Amino acid sequence: MKSNLMTKDQILTYIKENFDFFEKDKDLVCEEIGDGNINYVFRIKDSSGKSLVIKQADSLLRSSQRPLDTNRSKIEQEVLKIENHLAPGLVPEVYHYDEEKFLIIMEDISTYKNLRTELIEGRIYDHLPESISTFLEKTLIPTTDLVIDRKEKKERLKRFTNPDLCDITEDLVLTEPYFDYKNRNIITKGLEDFVKNSLYEDEDLHFEVLKLKDKFQNYSQGLIHGDLHSGSIFINEKGIKVIDPEFSFYGPLGYDIGNVWGNLVFPLYYHMAIGSDQKLIEKSKDIIIKTIDLTIKKLKKSFDDNITFEFFKNKKFKDFYLKDLIEDSFGYCGTEIIRRTVGDSKVKEVDLIKDLDKRLNLDKSLVLLGKEIILNRSDFKEGKDITKLIEKE
Ligand SMILES: Nc1ncnc2c1ncn2[C@@H]1O[C@H](COP(=O)(O)OP(=O)(O)OP(=O)(O)O)[C@@H](O)[C@H]1O
Ligand SMILES: [Mg+2]
Repeated sequence: MKSNLMTKDQILTYIKENFDFFEKDKDLVCEEIGDGNINYVFRIKDSSGKSLVIKQADSLLRSSQRPLDTNRSKIEQEVLKIENHLAPGLVPEVYHYDEEKFLIIMEDISTYKNLRTELIEGRIYDHLPESISTFLEKTLIPTTDLVIDRKEKKERLKRFTNPDLCDITEDLVLTEPYFDYKNRNIITKGLEDFVKNSLYEDEDLHFEVLKLKDKFQNYSQGLIHGDLHSGSIFINEKGIKVIDPEFSFYGPLGYDIGNVWGNLVFPLYYHMAIGSDQKLIEKSKDIIIKTIDLTIKKLKKSFDDNITFEFFKNKKFKDFYLKDLIEDSFGYCGTEIIRRTVGDSKVKEVDLIKDLDKRLNLDKSLVLLGKEIILNRSDFKEGKDITKLIEKE
């Protein structure tokens, strides 16, 4: 497979020759700002401060240079457009897409900061639960068969089939943490027996994870972002911007919700591990409770606001549908917590704990929490159900 990567200079020339976004007499500077494992992200700025961002998908994965379907790029920009329509202003605006070069030219959202980094540094924005639950409210149920035309849904199912990226999730999230057949898990030294007993050999857990995996593969419920961790959410005092929907496909809505919820658990555990002050710890807990509660409330609202076809308004069906969705959300919240702890793609909150004893404690607590959540996901109704489990630990 040949790389289709463009250099910084080629990108600069490309922008100068093809777009009149910048004034002709202005000098342009291009810098690479990407820090991900998959693609290349550049920012071009002129001397007045006007800027745009270009994301390029190479045919080879940035981290390992193995081939990866470039159609992910087409999917990403199309989903950004759909999300911007459903939740205006909550994602970067796409200015242009170059289908031959796999280049997305979009709004520069550099005035927003990476949510994961902000939470690690103890900067908690009070609007976060409202903002992220609104994103989930606006972008999920409105893409399902309950709301959009059946034929349009099936067209989209084809367009957003994303085999390579789903394959990554099916392996790294929903298989390997429990069944390490590719030998890619990274287990903290000293935790091997614990992981063997509590993850590799727990058949009841496997049964529940397999149900979640089967649902991920076979339940084309709605258009999901597919990688909605806190590094895909950017934030400032004004609001949030969600980036990077390259894993998007028609799958279970609970996968996105569970990713958001699960990733809020890491900063709390991180601050407990490093002994941050109690106020910050309470605030981190509060963010989890409020985000879960507001999400559940707004999913109900989204159901009521968006469904117009009378037949779907059956009360028992509504209760069943939402209960099932919330149960899935807790389930994928649990799988996210576990895979980021023992899998090969860890979160910073875990990696930053260098003291071995603290790290062993942290890993164990996260794995046990993840398991409890997966196994009891049908019993949970609100955010406090999760923070109570955390406090029990
Ligand atoms: N529209 C944008 N405006 C400003 N910065 C951006 C924008 N898009 C991406 N970035 C920056 O580039 C980084 C990488 O972007 P992104 O996560 O989309 O890339 P990726 O290669 O798909 O990453 P990953 O390996 O996490 O999938 C972001 O963390 C952010 O700092
Ligand atoms: Mg990405």
